Formats: sequence, C-alpha cells, structure tokens
Amino acid sequence: MFSSRLAWRLTRNPIARLLAEKRAAGETILDLTESNPTRAGIAYPAAEISRALADPRALAYDPDPAGLPDAREAVSAYYRERGCDAAPERILLTASTSEAYAYLFKLLADPGDEILSPRPSYPLFEYLAALESVSIVQYPLFYDHGWHMDLAALRDRITERTRAIVLVNPNNPTGSYLKRHELDALLAIASGRGLALISDEVFGDYTFTEDPSRVGTLAGLTEALEFSLSGLSKIGGLPQMKLGWIAMAGEPQRRRDAWERLELIADTYLSVGTPVQVAFPSLLALGAGVQAQIQARTRANLAHLRSALPANAASTLLDVEGGWYATLQVPRTRTEQEWVLDLLRSANVLVQPGFFYDFESEAYLVLSLLTESAAFREGVRRLLAIAL
Ligand SMILES: Cc1ncc(COP(=O)(O)O)c(C=O)c1O
Repeated sequence: MFSSRLAWRLTRNPIARLLAEKRAAGETILDLTESNPTRAGIAYPAAEISRALADPRALAYDPDPAGLPDAREAVSAYYRERGCDAAPERILLTASTSEAYAYLFKLLADPGDEILSPRPSYPLFEYLAALESVSIVQYPLFYDHGWHMDLAALRDRITERTRAIVLVNPNNPTGSYLKRHELDALLAIASGRGLALISDEVFGDYTFTEDPSRVGTLAGLTEALEFSLSGLSKIGGLPQMKLGWIAMAGEPQRRRDAWERLELIADTYLSVGTPVQVAFPSLLALGAGVQAQIQARTRANLAHLRSALPANAASTLLDVEGGWYATLQVPRTRTEQEWVLDLLRSANVLVQPGFFYDFESEAYLVLSLLTESAAFREGVRRLLAIAL
C-alpha cells in the first residue's frame, strides 16, 4: 500500500532503547548530544522576539514564491557583511535547510539520479534523497592532520547519473571547512561535467580558528552553478522559526535557468509562513546575540575538552575548525555501539557513535559542544574516567 521511498527500519536502535529505559526509570542523563539550542540554556531575548512576531503586517497574505522582499534583502545584507555579493534576486526562502535540499533535488535530478555527498557527514541526506527518489553516493573525507576531501575518490564516483555534489561547510560533525584548492578542483569538475554544487553553510559562522586557505561561502561565485544553504536554525539559534534560504550563484545564464524552475517549485508549495518572513530582519539581528552566546559556549566547551585530555591519553580529540561538534577517537577495544552503551549504562552519559555519521572506520564518539557547560564538564569527566 505504501511507497518504497519509505522502506526504512522503523524500530528503535539499542542506544535509543536503553535511553528510553533509563529515562522511564527516572535517571538523570548527561546528554552530550544536545543539538537543540532552545534546550541548551541559551538566554533568548524573549520580549523582542515576541514583538517582532506580533507585527500587524503578518495579517495580510500576499505571497511571493521566493519570499517577501524585505526578508530577502536581509539575507542579502547578511552576505554583504561577510564580503559577498548575493543580490536579493538570487535569494529564495524555504521553511528549512531540509526543505531547501528537497527543492534542489527536485530541480536537479530525475528519479534514480545520483547526488554525491560527503562521508562522514550529517545523517539526513539518505532520507532527504530517498524522499525525492534519488540516490546518495558518498565521497570520502579522510583525516590526516585535519580533514580533507578525497578528490580522486570523488571523481571516481561520478557517473552518467550524477547531478550534484553536496558539501557541508563546515562539515557536521568533523567541523572541517572547504579549502581554496578543494574549491578550485570542484569548480573544474562541476563545469566540466555539468554538475551543480550544493553548499550547506548552516554552521558557517561558528569558527574556532582562522585559516586564509578556508572558503567561507560559495554565494558570490560567477562560474558553474552553486546553491548555498543556510537559515535561522543555526546562525540565529532559532530552529523553531522554520526559515532557511537558498542563495544562488554561478554563471549568469545557468543561474537564470535554475531560478525560473526553482521559483516554480517554491510557488507550488508557498511553505514559508508570513509572520516569520515579516519578522525575519529583526530575528536575524536578534539572532546575532544568540549566535555570540553559542559561539562562547562551543569555544569554552572545546577548550575544556582539550585541557581535560592528557597528551598521552588513549583517546584523542580530532582537529576541529568550526561547527558545534567535537570528535573523540577512542580505543578500538570496544565497538562504537559498546562504548556508547557502556557510557550510558554505567555513567549516565549520552554521546553519539561515529557510525551515526558514517565514519569510515571505528571507533569515534561525537560530542555536542552546544551542551550546557556544567553538564558538558561532568559528562567529559565521567567519559574520560572510562575512555582515557
Ligand atoms: C549540516 C546540517 N544541515 C542542515 C541542518 C538542518 O537545518 P534546518 O533546521 O534548517 O533544516 C542541520 C541540522 O542539524 C545540519 O547539521
């Protein structure tokens, strides 16, 4: 009766089962996987946010498929502040980055076509692609004094059916940014093979280090065809507002052709609510204060984790350039699942196993640096008591 696009295992994995049992038994869990800023003890400017959402202009329905002009101008200004020219005519609002992926997969691919995406990375791609009847083909990132794209492997994985290459910049959970030489190679591949680049930049503002070889955003490029994705969810710590966007860039004629079609897709759904679009310029400005708090939190937690790990420890912290996550490499004396279950069972600490993100080998544990600091410190103390 149901579509084969939904052929997923819907049962709970052993980690989710143990967590549910622990919570049902009333145990307090130190959750080092928290990715929801509204649950992470961040101080939001509640009155100002409420005022922005109460704007009477939200009472009129006058939809524009790409989004209301003032909101798109605010996105354009966001890029201008980062030294990048992305005119409002190139900005299309969506309800989320996930929806932006869905629009782009509809725009670029027929059923059965292939999209390249990084490994390890954000685990939602398989689902987003399956729902559009397209396939994800992964290209590896490898770790050698920092993370790098395996460009040769990426080239090998391109087939007649490949339509686009997804980059996550910085990547979740590796926290690695795209480098200039990687972008040059990708542009050559994309131009030569007629592929689009989809650049997920939701964590772009969260950096730990400076690096001149790093690429910030693809939004200002004038060759090939690029789509930069971001939104209030991460840059303003406001996922509940459901406002994201696509910033288009690239060679002008390709961009215009893509824009016409993208507008048609957006016009079919008109999914972004008017109140959030009207409030958006204010929310973006208020989000800057939220972002500063998150930045301070993630930096402090990362510094703590570094200082808590002795140089000769059996577990090591992988190099991280940005984002909200840190990756610990732990001894392969246990599988990742055993590590996570043991930590939860014996220390009430919840972390994510590397396999959630498709790390090529074991054993890695992923910690959210967004976690409230006291819980993070205690969680790290208990974790290292076991995994040092
Ligand atoms: C890399 C990446 N892209 C996109 C998203 C989702 O963003 P949105 O809330 O805009 O759908 C996430 C959420 O964790 C993410 O990690």
